[in-house]
Amino acid sequence: MTFLTNCSSVIRGTAFHSTGPNSFDILEDHLFLVDEAGVLDDVISPKDDRYDNILRRSEDAGSLQRLKSQQYLLPGFIDTHVHAPQWAQVGKALDADLPVWLNDYTFPLEAAYKNTDFAETIYKDLVQTLLANGTTTAQYFGSVHNEPNKVLAEICASEGQHAYIGKVVMDLPSQCPDYYRDSSPQAALNATEDFLTYCRNLNSRTRQDIVGVVTPRFIPTCSDEVLYGLGDLARHYDAPVQSHCSEGDWEHAHVLERTGLSDTQAHLKYGLLTNKTTLAHSVYLSDSDAELYKEHGAAIAHSPLSNILFAGAVCPVKRRLEQGLSISLATDISAGYTPSMFDSMRQAILSSRLLSTGTDFSKSPIERGGIPASVIDFRQAFYMATVGGATALHVNAGQFRKGCRFDAFVFDCLASQSQTRQYDTDSLADMLQKIIFTGQRQNITALWVSGRPVSLH
Ligand code: GUN
Ligand code: FE
Repeated sequence: MTFLTNCSSVIRGTAFHSTGPNSFDILEDHLFLVDEAGVLDDVISPKDDRYDNILRRSEDAGSLQRLKSQQYLLPGFIDTHVHAPQWAQVGKALDADLPVWLNDYTFPLEAAYKNTDFAETIYKDLVQTLLANGTTTAQYFGSVHNEPNKVLAEICASEGQHAYIGKVVMDLPSQCPDYYRDSSPQAALNATEDFLTYCRNLNSRTRQDIVGVVTPRFIPTCSDEVLYGLGDLARHYDAPVQSHCSEGDWEHAHVLERTGLSDTQAHLKYGLLTNKTTLAHSVYLSDSDAELYKEHGAAIAHSPLSNILFAGAVCPVKRRLEQGLSISLATDISAGYTPSMFDSMRQAILSSRLLSTGTDFSKSPIERGGIPASVIDFRQAFYMATVGGATALHVNAGQFRKGCRFDAFVFDCLASQSQTRQYDTDSLADMLQKIIFTGQRQNITALWVSGRPVSLH
């Protein structure tokens, strides 16, 4: 029986969490017992015999926090694809196509982070902004140079965010500018190894996860030698891997021409398609490519905003979920223009509606078969933003279950400037849908990472 022995705080309130791609639970007026390590020690329903006793004892001990009416507890979001240095250009150059955007804007900007004062300013703002938007875990691409990557890791540690961070590898002279690339395959591998070790040491000193990630930018910018070497490092260090895969038809065709393989098959050949791999976009996958993801346990980082802006396409996530793939959600800053996972959830839902709506005006929507099978709704979006991310990164988070780390935030419908309304006609299930469609940064009024309150900037 739980008697608050190792419990440092108790939160009383109503929470929502996803229980699968098509389902969620409403934990109405439950008690959430968080232990000293920031892990949920127990979740107690009002029907539980222990409820009144625990409530009284935690109140007496001064460790009880009660959510108010119209406040809800949600799991912190897990954003699995963010380019940290691109934060400085968020919202910019979105009228360019991918090669122009990379060569004229993104590579010069990323190179500027060699100046670690610049890195410090931008990265602090980024990490604080993501936390304020409810993102308790982020998987970042850093840049080619390790000094700014280390600055990012330290800032995540000190600001209190779980972070998966990669030193970006791009070494192929024909595809990368001289001013911004790894000087040789071996230099890239040495720097990657150095950064993995740096994160491992930092991780042992912090409460959050700070994890180094093997990060080839994408196959077109990397030599065969470096790709094989990165696959070896991922295996040797049992490290996660992140990259871009089959983002646009250009990338897909380029890899096919160079290797004779699909982008997915090429990742497999280099040892980069593992059960710790997260691949952004994954739009132009064949069904057999998708089966390879499933077979090897690799995850998609679904990036609905950047897919529209740069891939000009919609990833068929419903189909991939039904195939049983692991799918997480991402903002893809700055090819995506928002730091908000609420915005990403909304775009994922809206994009799915465009996949097979069609323009056959000779038939009514009902004659066309009603809502197309490709459509996802708030359930799948909520799943991808929380449990899908936790599954991709193999962390016990994203839900309010005993043993999960307590990464969570309070969503307050009555917060200043809130656009989320609750009326007597709304059920709690309605409220989850309202929160997902209307939620904004200003609704997030408290946030915990591994049980520790984080100040919101
Ligand atoms: N492909 C290679 N690099 C990038 C990047 O930074 N953003 C996007 N969206 N695609 C890429
Ligand atoms: Fe990206």
